[in-house]
Amino acid sequence: MASANGKVILCGEHSVVYGGDALAVGLPYGVEARATAADRLSLAIDGRVVDSSQPAIEALTRVLRRLSLPEAAVDVELHMPVGVGLGASAAMAVAITRAVSELYQRTCDLSTLLAAAHVWESVFHGTPSGVDAACAALGGCISFNTRRGPVTTPVGAPLHLAIAVASPASLTKSMIERVAAVRQRDGAGFEQTLSRVHQIVDAARSAIANGEHGLLGALLDENHALLCQWGLSTPGIETACRAARTAGAFGAKLTGAGGGGCVLALCNAVTQPLVMNAWQRLSFQTLAVHLEPSSAQMANVERS
Ligand code: PMV
Repeated sequence: MASANGKVILCGEHSVVYGGDALAVGLPYGVEARATAADRLSLAIDGRVVDSSQPAIEALTRVLRRLSLPEAAVDVELHMPVGVGLGASAAMAVAITRAVSELYQRTCDLSTLLAAAHVWESVFHGTPSGVDAACAALGGCISFNTRRGPVTTPVGAPLHLAIAVASPASLTKSMIERVAAVRQRDGAGFEQTLSRVHQIVDAARSAIANGEHGLLGALLDENHALLCQWGLSTPGIETACRAARTAGAFGAKLTGAGGGGCVLALCNAVTQPLVMNAWQRLSFQTLAVHLEPSSAQMANVERS
């Protein structure tokens, strides 16, 4: 039996695909996986057996092959929303990798775990940066880039985040293609925006470490505006962002691939329930995340 949690990207989504850093926070919600030895590979999600023609079976097959492990019967229980850009797929990959490694008494260090999760994610997302799996594996607040892997980043003051499910998520792959098309059309403009996003992420990392949440909120708003320029927002996302800011959030933005999915609002203990109430009045599903201050202790992990 093993578990892993979902994630929410604070800033740097999409630019992470082009080599920049993304900042992400682990959710207090996730998935559990149970693995038992079996002659034939099987996967059940919330008690429903997954048909052998489904990509999840291909993904599980590749994970077991990557780990050089024999067949297993895997049962997964989901305790988080799925298909809304909160990293449920990566959480499944990490929980399953941990469960099958434990079953066959293999030690599974972080780089092995992330490599196996990458194999799983590639079946669904094409070329994932790996930020989801890193956050699922480590939790807390991480800074991630594709060359260096994840690093735990210090949190100077309690972070109160509110999340609204603005609409079903679009396909991450399609949104990555949308951004690539923007780059194709206007390479110079794209590079300019990208370098501003890199600056925003660096400034956000410092603001998180120093507990400067007014500044952090403004940075999140600006990151959102740049993601909008790449064509990633939707009317539902804009409604949720506006409602959060009106209810007192320091800042609000789309999180993840965009084109649907979730909105993230940076709050404090007082404004978090106000933002959640405002969203609930608009019939958005909401989640609350609270991260206590912490220091950075995690070593860098090279991507394999
Ligand atoms: O689809 P999501 O919400 O897990 O977010 C993907 C984040 C991207 O930067 C768009 C893609 C990636 O692999 O990092």
